[in-house]
Amino acid sequence: MTEDNLFVRRLGPGLDQGGPIRLRPLLPDDLGERYEAWFRDEQVTRYLEARGISAFDALRHLMDGFQSEAWFMYAIEQKAPQPCHVGNLKIGPINRRHATAEISIVIGERDCWGRGVATEAVRLGTDLAFGRFGLRKLYAGMVEGNEGSVRAFEKAGWRVESRLPGAFIHEGTIKGKVVVTIDNPGFHVGS
Ligand SMILES: CC(C)(COP(=O)(O)OP(=O)(O)OC[C@H]1O[C@@H](n2cnc3c(N)ncnc32)[C@H](O)[C@@H]1OP(=O)(O)O)[C@@H](O)C(=O)NCCC(=O)NCCS
Repeated sequence: MTEDNLFVRRLGPGLDQGGPIRLRPLLPDDLGERYEAWFRDEQVTRYLEARGISAFDALRHLMDGFQSEAWFMYAIEQKAPQPCHVGNLKIGPINRRHATAEISIVIGERDCWGRGVATEAVRLGTDLAFGRFGLRKLYAGMVEGNEGSVRAFEKAGWRVESRLPGAFIHEGTIKGKVVVTIDNPGFHVGS
């Protein structure tokens, strides 16, 4: 069995709901120079913990999640004019006991910013997390001031549930954390 098949077997094909982007499993072949450039770009990494990661670090993170089943990585792929990997969506860490997970997202190709890609990717990731992984509640945390990220989650149906003042030191100042969440209306305890 090829490596691609292994990923697809465990993660499924991803999700395509007919819009301009789809989610598919992130594969080792995706982790090249272009990928490394995303994480060297100061605008892309401004609000991210992951900075300057090498393709090797990224591969180790991908494989660690896959093997431990604690997190799964999806590529955000723009479908036209030809399939193009423009960012990542991560489901995890997953807490199976409580049926929760964190979702995080990065659109590495800055040409794609402001076109609804993150909003649609969060929608697809939410459906995957609820549908394929049977999760109950999802959350994401961002540095106060990352308005684009908060907006993308809100537009995908999430809500700001709490704020944690002073959670980060960011660009030399203390900043709060905005926690956005969404609940799975189809989840019933014991089901
Ligand atoms: C934040 C990020 C995910 C937004 O992606 P995107 O594809 O540009 O987002 P969308 O096009 O879906 O935009 C969603 C909404 O946010 C708004 N928005 C996007 N970037 C914005 C910004 N920098 N400031 C204010 N609003 C912004 C959009 O206008 C849109 O709202 P509207 O439809 O009401 O106008 C993307 O810029 C990114 O990956 N940044 C770097 C990594 C990062 O910060 N990830 C989040 C970590 S939690």
